[in-house]
Amino acid sequence: MHKDVKIKPFWYSDTFVFPKLITIVTTLNADGKVNAAPYSHIMQYDVMHKTPRIYLGFRNTSHTFQNIRDTGEFVINCPSASHLKDMMETARFHAEGVNELEHTSFTQIPSKRVKPPSIAECKQVLECTVDEVVELDATQGHVIGNIVSLMVEEDLVDMGREDRLRALDLPIGLGDERRADYFYCHSDNIEMYTLEDIEDSSQEVHALVTGMDWDEGAMQALRRVPAGVRRTVIRHTEAAAKEKGASEITAELYGEISRDAGMDDVVLDRFQRGG
Ligand SMILES: Cc1cc2nc3c(=O)[nH]c(=O)nc-3n(C[C@H](O)[C@H](O)[C@H](O)COP(=O)(O)O)c2cc1C
Repeated sequence: MHKDVKIKPFWYSDTFVFPKLITIVTTLNADGKVNAAPYSHIMQYDVMHKTPRIYLGFRNTSHTFQNIRDTGEFVINCPSASHLKDMMETARFHAEGVNELEHTSFTQIPSKRVKPPSIAECKQVLECTVDEVVELDATQGHVIGNIVSLMVEEDLVDMGREDRLRALDLPIGLGDERRADYFYCHSDNIEMYTLEDIEDSSQEVHALVTGMDWDEGAMQALRRVPAGVRRTVIRHTEAAAKEKGASEITAELYGEISRDAGMDDVVLDRFQRGG
């Protein structure tokens, strides 16, 4: 039976467990000195390719948040579980201007499109500029970042997901006690489930399409889109078609709008699971 638990400060960690991605954010202060610290309140924000963006949440007194606000740039590095000790070292409270990376075995390397450095040992790295900084209250700062480079260790780029998960060996953050004892698990126990489409999907597609006519070719293409994203695809396609002054979605127009949205053949192949 559930119990209605009193909501106290730090409820998101002390009372409710949110497993999270572990990253080390590298920044420069206004004098150009490197800062590094772990951050986990991070989430994809715009998943399409034109304005790929990411969200991060901070205590607004942290050096990282202040550096991002002052310089407009930051790098998100994903360490593997074998570097948990180094990652924890970067969490210690050092004075402003101290480069935490110098207290670790990490190697600092130049980033491609921003000034803060990247960490060579981290196999996934996002180089970011600031899109928006929001300070909702006295204690918290929220940053929406533009992803200007998405860097992945070369060997991983074409690897299947299961091998890639093992190669990345990303630690998963499980929260902390007393803001001092941090818990992690390793992603070495992987399970996979296939999401099957519901049988009557063609009916569902017809029921969903409202507002405009879709020709048979466009409908066929739409049936290949997984049910979970069909509504979004329909809404986006119809809005783009209206902007182009079209009154009907033809297969050709659907293809053109998909490609404009970055849905090239490689991306679309991910959807090709039969009719
Ligand atoms: C795994 C881990 C994740 C963390 N995630 C966050 C976070 O998302 N937001 C935050 O404000 N602090 C977070 N912290 C705490 C900061 O890393 C810590 O306060 C650090 O000293 C801040 O350093 P800075 O002032 O150099 O930015 C996290 C700490 C750890 C160990």
